[in-house]
Amino acid sequence: MIMFRCLLVITLLTAPGFARSESSIGARLAATCAACHGTAGDTKGSTLPRLAGQSQQALSANLQAFKTGKRPSTIMTQIAKGYTDEQIEQLAAYFAAQKPEAAK
Ligand code: HEC
Repeated sequence: MIMFRCLLVITLLTAPGFARSESSIGARLAATCAACHGTAGDTKGSTLPRLAGQSQQALSANLQAFKTGKRPSTIMTQIAKGYTDEQIEQLAAYFAAQKPEAAK
């Protein structure tokens, strides 16, 4: 059992991305959003607002407003509730750092 635990710890520690920077944590969290908001938050050809390039402050404020129900939504309240405040900041930082296709 102890052996198994050691192996588990080693596996977790060496798993790809374990010690990556903030921004790639954001990138991994943001993969969930791509289905609706497009790759890297660039909603080309969609009616959804573009996340890429919005300010970090606006993004996190909107996510917090969805989470608390202050801003009405169809789906985003459900989604935002699944993230901690820290993860919301990481998501906001990631999308704020993306460049929309038109601006590249
Ligand atoms: C199932 C589709 C879907 C997924 C997945 C999704 N969103 Fe959304 N998002 C929406 C819709 C639809 C809206 C418009 C508000 C509403 O009706 O909920 C929206 C609105 C937003 C807004 C407000 C944008 C603005 O400018 O007003 C932000 C910010 C946002 N989403 C962030 C995210 C993040 C971050 C994720 C991933 C963690 C995510 N969304 C995942 C569908 C989705």
